[in-house]
Formats: sequence, structure tokens, C-alpha cells
Amino acid sequence: MVHLFRIITILSFMLALVACGQEADRAASSEVTLQTPAVVAQVDTDRIKNAAAEPEMWMTYGGGYDEQRHSTLGQINRDTLPELGVGWVYEMAKPRGAEATPIVVDGVMYVSSAWSVVYALDAKTGEEKWVYDPEVSGKDAAKGCCDVVNRGVAVHNGRVFVGVFDGRLEALDAASGEVVWSVVTVDQSKPYTITGAPRVFKDKVIIGNAGAELGVRGYVSAYNVNSGALAWRFYTVPNPEKKPDGAASDDILAALANDTWGDAGAWVTDGGGGTAWDSIVYDTVNDQILIGVGNGSPWNPDIRDPDSDGDNLFLSSILAVDADTGRYRWHYQTTPRDRWDYTATQQIMLADLPLGDGGGSRRVVMQAPKNGFFYVLDAASGELVSATPFTNQNWTTGEFDESGRPVLMEEAVDLALYAVVPGPTGAHNWHPMAFNPDTGLVYIPVNEIPFFYDKTRNVADSKSIWNIGYDAAAGWPVEYPAGTLAAVSGLDGGTLLAWDPVKAEPRWAVPFPLPLNGGVLSTTAGLVFQGNKFGDFVAYDAETGERLWSHSLVGNAAAAPMTYEIDGEQYLSVLSGWGSVSSLIAGFTYGEAKGKEPARVITFKVGGNETMPAPLAKVVSATPKSPIFGEPEQHQLGMQRFAENCHFCHGAFAVSGGVIPDLRWSAISANDEAWDQVVREGVLEKQGMVSFAGHLTKEDTDAIRAYVIQQAWLAVANGNASAPGEN
Ligand code: HEC
Repeated sequence: MVHLFRIITILSFMLALVACGQEADRAASSEVTLQTPAVVAQVDTDRIKNAAAEPEMWMTYGGGYDEQRHSTLGQINRDTLPELGVGWVYEMAKPRGAEATPIVVDGVMYVSSAWSVVYALDAKTGEEKWVYDPEVSGKDAAKGCCDVVNRGVAVHNGRVFVGVFDGRLEALDAASGEVVWSVVTVDQSKPYTITGAPRVFKDKVIIGNAGAELGVRGYVSAYNVNSGALAWRFYTVPNPEKKPDGAASDDILAALANDTWGDAGAWVTDGGGGTAWDSIVYDTVNDQILIGVGNGSPWNPDIRDPDSDGDNLFLSSILAVDADTGRYRWHYQTTPRDRWDYTATQQIMLADLPLGDGGGSRRVVMQAPKNGFFYVLDAASGELVSATPFTNQNWTTGEFDESGRPVLMEEAVDLALYAVVPGPTGAHNWHPMAFNPDTGLVYIPVNEIPFFYDKTRNVADSKSIWNIGYDAAAGWPVEYPAGTLAAVSGLDGGTLLAWDPVKAEPRWAVPFPLPLNGGVLSTTAGLVFQGNKFGDFVAYDAETGERLWSHSLVGNAAAAPMTYEIDGEQYLSVLSGWGSVSSLIAGFTYGEAKGKEPARVITFKVGGNETMPAPLAKVVSATPKSPIFGEPEQHQLGMQRFAENCHFCHGAFAVSGGVIPDLRWSAISANDEAWDQVVREGVLEKQGMVSFAGHLTKEDTDAIRAYVIQQAWLAVANGNASAPGEN
């Protein structure tokens, strides 16, 4: 509508000039050079509400307002699967994690990737139309828990909206990629980041933020789509004084939340967490916004809030607020007084299920958050319909008390080296799930990754850049026997799970030896598509889980596929590449990235015959580049500091996931001057490797180097790497 209005304005201006004779010629000739933008991305709330009538489009992050990620396009089906091939491949300009779901509207694909770069592509050919790089500073990379990723954009009335990693929300001209407006949504002096997709409803665009691992206070903000003016803001936790913020959340924080927090502790200084970093959904029927709220900051509630044993509202909750005003409607807290990083930020999905009186239809909210329970809630009231574990969990007994709270396992509260499952990576993370209304099943990428939360050791002398309140190096040995890594890795796994939300029970599961596989797409042809950690893109039978088809993606995939149709041809796209928290944190346990493949959009179609790019050769040889040095005490200190500061990016036990260099094999680790230039002077800051000089002493960083080289030789001793000169 914006553009149409503009064209009319220009026309009437010209007509007025024509009436003025001579002058009109001049004006008209200059008018020829005035570039009127093509009318593109004409999506508004009504069109998205009717998304089902236009299955050729994929208009929102989750495919429609209900975010079911189900398509009724059927050209790609059981019969045509054998002919499904690559239609086009587009390589992203900047590497690192690729997590986004593209949007396709009127022939154009809008997709984001690492460093919040946005790409507009011809959806038929993959030809680039424009690229917008918001130029996030490399320094900001260390503010993120899980890489400089971006999960997607929103499109509305000729504009593309992107949440930028450094906290900006920007509106771009969909035709040119030029910035129309840009607002800073956070206090940039704090470790806030944005990785989630904005959502548009009516005349507003809404965005949350991330940062609870480092220490911030969570909230969501709704802005006017046209002007970028703040319309309302909802804080998910109180401020330290428990005073009004002048925000939509004021009344309900005073009425419900303030008393669930004590008056002292780390939450007062560090914000308390509760960031809404992923799912924020518009419920068109109830005209409300559903917000998935994150974990506590720090994780350990004894440190976060030592003066109370309150629930710490609204941590780990699903919150419903009025779409126009942001005022509270209802909430359901999935994990009262969260202590395990059990975010409830995961995908919120809306559906009408036969769960009403007498088997009638009931509009429900579904979520499978990190804590391993599948929740079904009444969308209008927030009433709990069912809460059932969808995978192994040992933080509760499986029962609920009279007040509806989960009954906790004592060991999961004491946390004296009890391996809790799910761990902080979650039984289900941001990787999108999908719902097929025909089968009635929800397809969930499930993880099983236990974790030691150790609160027995004093964390007061910790130098961790993460603010979790547990010992970051819990259970980390400096020396360990051969086979240890394989044994640890063997504890982890995952499934693609088909879950019946009405019966609250599993239907089928495809097991994987590696967790954190890709997001899911469901189609009316009875197919479920998923990319995985093995570099395959797979089609499964929606009824049985039978593997029907697969194709190599060269790199591994964490992002969810989506589908669209142009000129009678159905396309199927998925992002692949190195990245996502999965290949970032530890190679041996979550699966190593398939080389350092660039991020790509890979698009399939029936009869597609493009060839995939050849895999990149691995350039770094897994062999120590320096003799071992240092005493055991230095290695011990190095291990501690590495676990506190480096492992989030360079991998647990110093084993990289392949995204970020494996320091054991780095030539830079072998040279103390080069090491100092990188680690203390920050010469690689642009690439996101910040200086640690302000945070760690020279003794600390020297110890980390000694530890890293010692770990390289340990790998040789354990048969996991070759000594120099061997092959
Ligand atoms: C926020 C993520 C992040 C953290 C935390 C981090 N690094 Fe890095 N580091 C990187 C990235 C990204 C690179 C690669 C930069 C490039 O592209 O050249 C890197 C590269 C390096 C290199 C150069 C390796 C090579 O062969 O090129 C060294 C040495 C290094 N890091 C040491 C450390 C140490 C020591 C710590 C902890 C004190 C640490 N890093 C913490 C992201 C991180």
C-alpha cells in the first residue's frame, strides 16, 4: 500500500505540472529518471491470515501466523521424490552459523544469515537482487552465547524487517534493500544480542532479545511498522527496585511477579534473564501475542535469588499479552524457579485440535521447550490441557503437585555432579518442529544431552565470561584415558520424533547417534523433510518415519526447510553450512561440522539437475605444532580458564566443532607472540575473536596455551591424532 500511495502522489504531482505547460516538460523528463520501486512484498496481516489460500508463498518465519510449518503443496510427493534434484545453490557472503528459514513472497526470497546480513534472491533462479549488511562489529560476537546467527526476517507492505545482532531493529525497502528506519532496541553497553526473527501483526513489528547467559533483563518491544516508534514494551522480569518501568508490564509485575523474587542476589545486578530470544507469535483468533520466555540469569538460583525460594516469574514461561496494548492476559510457567537453563523460548505453535468438550475442536498452544515436556494449553485462557515428557528427563519425578508444579528430583536440585537430562542444550532447542493436520502429529527434532551443573565448587574466583553461577569446568579432566571422548559422545543422541498432541504420546521416532539435527517441514503429501548433522537432506514418511529419500547438502544443516511454488513448479529450500550451537560447542559430542563449508541456500525441485559444490578440503592437519610445555598446575589453571572463556566457541575439552579453529592444531597456539597478538591484542577482532587482555592476566592466557598444547599431545597419546611427521 505504501508504494501504491507513492505512485499516486507522483502521478497527481505530474498532472498538476502538466497543467502548467512548459514547466511540466522539465518536470516530466526528470520524472523519467526517478526510480519508482517495483511493487514487491505486498504482505499485510489479512494476507498472512489467509496464507492457507496461497500455499505458493511462504509469508512468515513459521509459514503463517500459527507457525505450523506445514505446506499443502503436493507436486513433490512419493512418486516424484526420485526425480527431486538441486534447482539452484546460493552462497552467502559471510560464513558462520546458518539458522534461518527464508520467506518467499511474489517470486522473491528474503533470507538472513550470520552477522545479520539479509539477502533478496530471485526465488526461481537464486539470482541475487540485493544484499544488506548491517555491519555488526566483530567485538559484539563475544556477547552471543551461540554464534552470530540470525533465524529470519519478516516481510510486510514492501518492507523487510531484521533484528540485528547488536540490538538494532531495521526496516529495509524490499525492492532495494535500503534502510527505511533503524532503531536501537537495547542498552548496547550491556550484553544484549538479537538472533530471532521479528514478527509483524497489524501495524506493529515485534522483537525480543537474548543475553541471559551473560546477564541482562529480558523484554519484548513492539514498534510501529511505518515509523519505528515504540508502541509498547513488556518486561518479563521485574527491575531491581521492583518499581514501574512505564511499560505495559507494570501492573502485572507488581501484582504477580515482584513477590516471586527476593530483594538481593545476582539478579539485582545482572538483570535476572527471562529473555525472549526465539518464539513470539501472533494469535489471530484471540488477538494476542504469545511470548516464549527464557532462562534465569545466572542459571543457579542460589546465586541469582538467594533471599527467596520464589518461582521467579516470568522465567521459563509462555506469556500471552494483548496485541494492541501489550497488557498481560495469562501465563504458564513450564519450569518454576528455573535452575537448568530450561528456556521456554522454543517454538510456539497454534492449532485447532479435537480436545474440546465432547471431542469438539479447541484452539490450543503447543510447545516442546528445553525441559523435555510437551505442553498443550488452551489458547484463550492459558489453561493446561496436558504436560507430558516427550523424551528422557530426570529433573522431575514425572508427577505434578496440587498447585500444578512439577515434583523435582532431589538430585537435580542438589546438583552435586548429577548428570541432568535434558542439559542446557535442551531436549528441543530453536530447531523448528512442524505439525501435519492430516496425521495429527507434531514432528520434533529431539536431543538427549546430559549435563553436569556443579554448584559444589566455589565459583567466586571464576573468571567466566558466561554468568551461569555453576562451575564451568565441572567434570573436565586435564588427563583422561583413550576412549573417554567416544564414551562421553555415546551418552548423547537425538531423534526425529512424531508426537501425538491429542493422545499425548509418541507415534514413532527415528534415532540419531548425534543430537541437534535440523528443523523440520511437513507437507500435505505425507512427507517430513529434515536436514541433519551428517550433511544429508532427508524425506521421511509422515505416518511411519520410514526414510524415503535423501540428498547430500555437502555441509550440515540445522535450519528448517520451507517450500513454495512459482509458475507451476514446487521448490524446496534449506540453509546449510557450518554453524549453529550444535557444531560450535564441541566436535566430539555434538558432531563436527562437515569441513568449513560456507553457508548456502540449497533449493530443490522435481527434475532439478544442478550439481552441488564439491566439499572443501580440510586444510588444518590434526597434529600438534609445538612440543608440550608447562607443569600440571599450569595445565590445570589453563583448563579452568579455557572452560570459563573459550570453550563456548572453541569446543569442550578443546575439541572444536569445526566451525571455529581447533586450537590444538593451530599454528598460532604454537607461537607465543602470535598467541598474544590474537588473545591479548585482538588482531582477529573483526572476525569475532575478541581480546581477552582486559579480562584475563598474562598468566591466565599463557596457561591456556600450555593446556591447549598439552591437550594436543593427549589426543596423540589416546590415538585421536597423529604425531608430527606421521600420517
Ligand atoms: C565468541 C567466540 C569466541 C570465543 C569466546 C573465543 N574465541 Fe578464539 N576465535 C574465535 C573465532 C571466530 C576465531 C577465528 C577468527 C578468524 O576467522 O580468523 C578465533 C580464533 C582464535 C585463535 C586463532 C586460531 C587460528 O589458528 O587462526 C586463537 C589462538 C584463539 N581464538 C584463542 C582463543 C582463546 C584462548 C579464547 C579464550 C580465552 C578464545 N579464543 C575465545 C572466536 C572465539
